[in-house]
Amino acid sequence: MAQFWWVIYPYLTLGLMIVGTVYRFIYGQRKWGSKSSEVLEKKWLRYGSLLFHWGILLVIGGHVMGLLVPLSVYHDLGVSNELYHKVADLFGGLAGFAAFVGVTILLIRRIANARVRGNSSAGDFVALALLFIVIGLGDAVTIGANNIYGPYEYRATVGPWIRDIVTFHPAAALMTSVPTLLQIHIIASFALLAASPFTRLVHLWSAPVTYPLRPPIQYRTRASMNKRL
Ligand code: HEM
Repeated sequence: MAQFWWVIYPYLTLGLMIVGTVYRFIYGQRKWGSKSSEVLEKKWLRYGSLLFHWGILLVIGGHVMGLLVPLSVYHDLGVSNELYHKVADLFGGLAGFAAFVGVTILLIRRIANARVRGNSSAGDFVALALLFIVIGLGDAVTIGANNIYGPYEYRATVGPWIRDIVTFHPAAALMTSVPTLLQIHIIASFALLAASPFTRLVHLWSAPVTYPLRPPIQYRTRASMNKRL
């Protein structure tokens, strides 16, 4: 079983993500992106989207620092395990909480608002439901379990495992002692990645990262246009 979940399953889901994204890029580019529902409902979209996006960006930054940076680097820099977990749990917890509140608002809005619901595809619900589960499980570990049982040292197990996946030297044994809640979080995350090309999450791969650097576009109000005419 360990071989399936920690070696075969990650490559299956990552393979589906890559093939699905390339397929959609070639055959479905016209519908590529995250269709806005702002004209249907604005207020809750603003709250939910802002909280979710800022929260998740910080959470992803935390994942890079906690999983891709080897434990030895922190020790070389003189950062003790205790200090690392204090900071990671505080900032990871706050960011994770913001992301969870945001995704909950977005999910409730999509279900409860008749206009938004009527203009949603099955993929829109699947994307939000998967995000809700993945973020909820992550927070259950960082905010819940860590405060009850003490911080779990994922930099000695999950970190090396994920780096070995990336470098094609998978080692399932590293994952067998990981707490069950965290294991389910990771399994659900790979399902989310596999589903991403078939939902609005595809916009992850075309996020407008250069947006703040582009020259500004000048808009004129209709009133001033009218005056000039
Ligand atoms: C392969 C992918 C992933 C791995 C290996 C992974 C692993 C982890 C680990 C080790 C933690 C910290 C647990 C602790 O504090 O003891 C965590 C927390 C968390 N994860 Fe993930 N995760 C993955 C993907 C994701 C994705 C895709 C999302 C969201 C879309 C996500 C959202 C969260 C959240 C919200 C937390 C709690 C806040 C935090 O600690 O930053 N994770 N994850």
